[in-house]
Amino acid sequence: MIAIYPGSFDPITLGHIDIIERGARLFEKVIVAVLSNPSKRPLFTVEKRIEQITACTQHIANVEVDSFIGLTVDYAQLHNAGVLLRGLRVLSDFEKELQMAHTNKTLNWEIETVFLATNKEYSFLSSSVVKEIAQFGGAIKHLVSNNVAQDIYYKYKNKQDE
Ligand code: PNS
Repeated sequence: MIAIYPGSFDPITLGHIDIIERGARLFEKVIVAVLSNPSKRPLFTVEKRIEQITACTQHIANVEVDSFIGLTVDYAQLHNAGVLLRGLRVLSDFEKELQMAHTNKTLNWEIETVFLATNKEYSFLSSSVVKEIAQFGGAIKHLVSNNVAQDIYYKYKNKQDE
C-alpha cells in the first residue's frame, strides 16, 4: 500500500521526519507531497521545500518527495495511494484533523486517513514555532535538520539585512 504524507512543510521539522520514518516502516512507499498553495505566503518556495525534504529523508529508501496543487485525495488517486498519513500531536490537532479526514472520505471513500501519534519529544513542535524562534534569534538546531536550520538562518539574516 502506498501512503501520501501531505502538508505544507514550511519547513520540514524533526517531528515530520519522525512521522515519515515510521510511516515508511508501515507502508510500501511514502510520498511526501508538498501542497502548493498560492493563497499562502510561505517562507520557502515549493522547490526549496522539496530540496529540504529530499535532503533529510535520504536515509529512507521507500520515500519520494513531490508537490501538488488541488485536492489531496485526487493526488492520492493519481498515484494509486490508498492512505493519507497524518501526525497527531495534541488534542487541539484532533478537531481539524478529524474534519479533514471526514471531508476527504466524502470526496473519495476508498482513501483512508491513518494517524500516527507524534513522538512525545516533538508534541509541541510545528513549522510555525520553528519560524517564530528563528525570527527572534533563538536556537532551532534541536528542532530541524542541519540543512533546514542553515536555510532558516540564512533567510532571517537576509531579512534583517534588507
Ligand atoms: O501541513 P498542513 O498545512 O497542516 O497540511 C494541510 C493539508 C495540506 C494536508 C491540507 O490543507 C490539504 O489537504 N489541502 C489540500 C486541499 C484539500 O484536499 N482539501 C480538502 C481536505 S480539507
